[in-house]
Amino acid sequence: MAIIIKTPEQIAGIRKSSKLAGQTLNFIEQYVKSGVNTEYLDNLIHDYMRDHGAIPATLGYNGYPKSSCISPNNVICHGIPSENVILKEGDIINIDVTTILDGYFGDTSRMYAIGEISTEAQSLMDTTKHCLDLGIQQVGPKSTFGNIGFAISRYAQAKGYSVVYEFCGHGVGLQFHEEPQVDHIARRNSGQVMKPGMIFTIEPMINMGKARVKIDEKDGWTARTIDNKLSAQYEHTILVTTEGFDILTDVNGEY
Ligand code: MF3
Ligand code: CO
Ligand code: CO
Repeated sequence: MAIIIKTPEQIAGIRKSSKLAGQTLNFIEQYVKSGVNTEYLDNLIHDYMRDHGAIPATLGYNGYPKSSCISPNNVICHGIPSENVILKEGDIINIDVTTILDGYFGDTSRMYAIGEISTEAQSLMDTTKHCLDLGIQQVGPKSTFGNIGFAISRYAQAKGYSVVYEFCGHGVGLQFHEEPQVDHIARRNSGQVMKPGMIFTIEPMINMGKARVKIDEKDGWTARTIDNKLSAQYEHTILVTTEGFDILTDVNGEY
């Protein structure tokens, strides 16, 4: 199976879906507060997507039960929204949403701080965001996928953090997870060559302590750090253009 080169029509559809995914993360921000449970946030996300004509891609995906992944503190990813997970002052959380709009997928996640957080937590989030940005800067025709992981891992490790290697970015657009697998640790110039029309995510997960992941035995999804130290993640959906890149989930004009 090769990496799909999307047609202009497909790109237009994926762009629309990606924009809605980014707008969903903007919409939910006002509700992310101390005292709120993550199932409440998930319900709001579900309704927002449905109101805008989209389906949450995670709902029923390989049996996943919710419309988003909400991952606090030591949860690396795939945190299942629950009435029993209540946000409190000082928490950092990742909210990850994937929309299906007119059959096209858009995938993005970002961090939210609950009230005042520690300087350690803030630095971890800032570094993780910068890792995503450095990865994105490696995207363009003739670059290789390995350059993304090289840029990310070099920076994260220089800051004294570890990079999760058990979960990766991925091709996206016509399906939730397409080829290629986008590693967040890699060697310079390794991997396949990028071409205009490819669309994939970059979604580094960066840990304060060890890189290793442990999956919750009861729910089979929640991925936590092995040492229960903090983890952060940011994700965008990116199109390779003839000039370089276009960040389809960047609804805030960050780039
Ligand atoms: N949105 C996640 C990603 O970035 C995947 C979540 S799959 C789920 O690839 F089943 F856990 F929802
Ligand atoms: Co993804
Ligand atoms: Co995602």
